[in-house]
Amino acid sequence: MKYEVVGGIPLRGVVKVSGAKNSALKLMAASLLAETPCTIRNVPDITDVRTMVGVLTALGARVETPSAGTLRIDPAGLSGWEPPEHLVREMRASIQVMGPLLARFGRVRVRQPGGCDIGPRPIDLHLKGFRALGADIVEDRGFIMAVAPKLYGAEIHLDFPSVGATENIMMAASLADGTTIIRNAAREPEIVDQQNFLNRLGAMIRGAGTDTIRIVGRKALSGTEYSVLPDRVETGTFMVAIAITGGDAWIENCIPEHVQAVIAKLREAGVKITEEDSRIRVTSGGRPGAVSVRTLPYPGFPTDMHPQISALLSIARGTSVITENIFPNRFRYVEELRRMGADIRLEGRVAVIEGKERLFATDVDAPDLRGGAALVLAGLAADGVTKVGNIWHIERGYENMAGKLASLGARITRLA
Ligand code: EPZ
Repeated sequence: MKYEVVGGIPLRGVVKVSGAKNSALKLMAASLLAETPCTIRNVPDITDVRTMVGVLTALGARVETPSAGTLRIDPAGLSGWEPPEHLVREMRASIQVMGPLLARFGRVRVRQPGGCDIGPRPIDLHLKGFRALGADIVEDRGFIMAVAPKLYGAEIHLDFPSVGATENIMMAASLADGTTIIRNAAREPEIVDQQNFLNRLGAMIRGAGTDTIRIVGRKALSGTEYSVLPDRVETGTFMVAIAITGGDAWIENCIPEHVQAVIAKLREAGVKITEEDSRIRVTSGGRPGAVSVRTLPYPGFPTDMHPQISALLSIARGTSVITENIFPNRFRYVEELRRMGADIRLEGRVAVIEGKERLFATDVDAPDLRGGAALVLAGLAADGVTKVGNIWHIERGYENMAGKLASLGARITRLA
């Protein structure tokens, strides 16, 4: 599968943001904590969601799609405690079922996870949290087994504010005996979404969005209805798409507060941004100026927007510096962007980008999800017709990217 992108068309019009991949996947996992069905709305139609449906189904849950964008997850038949190895290998977020399974069954066995190849992604912080809650953990030949007949509330200080570890611990602690406090917790909006969802199930959690989260364990949780928050990475990706094409367009169904770090950098680069309650207007101010970016945990600049902003800075006036502080291997897109004429020098986890007046169309391959999105954006700006291969990476996390860009006037076609 490929995208064929005709470059040089300024984007105009209105585009709507989908539900957040990185929240939807976790809420799907969290629904296993309930004893009755959950209905989750605003779920994006992406491959990773389908993979998570596969994980839940294999564990014995029943997953239905009563209408587009809505999942009904009935955990009544839940019986498995070992998510399928091939799915865990395929998608790292599968390990988010560990917390719920440990809490419900007292045991869980998973393969060391896979996912995008963006650097070493250990799960030691997840395991440290489970241990603190009373689990015994054995790691053996690529598998991890956690056993805890009962979980007990504990104080846990995370060495790093890991998103996945914070969420996994929150889920397990929701059914623990006593109170858990997570310190140095991740503060991403998806954590707040998970707190809101879990509280709707009957959990007692406070503090998400700050670095200290307090969870009072409950005996049982029951189903609810909930709508996933808008995807802030998709929002940011469209912002860059409009800016890189010299366009002027609105992004709707988004939360401007969640993309402030991206807005600040785009403004610094000379892009005009107008914020309203749930929509953002992006107006290009011509060729962007160079800026420096350091990725950091939220509310810092998101690592998930690093490749896309690099694509923009490849055509900036002057020299930009990007420092990747979360995932060291997130530079695999660089080689492909260079093939399009970008001048990017790599020094460890720093990329130095000498802006060029234009990029040139050629055939490139998506190296991973966000790197793939960056190549599509580069193609929108390049002279000629770019073909982006391996778009399965992109389709893991972006709902109908080609259709949405086309609705803004882009000439992009999905080729079989
Ligand atoms: C989530 O991954 C997101 N994935 C990632 O999005 C995102 O890039 C990342 O958070 C950071 O914002 C999902 O939500 C499914 P972390 P996660 O645990 O939870 C280290 C995308 O493109 N670490 O916050 O895996 C880790 O190696 C994806 O949508 C440990 O050392 O991220 C990394 O350096 C890619 N030990 C840092 O912490 C651990 O036990 C942040 O990882 C866990 C993490």
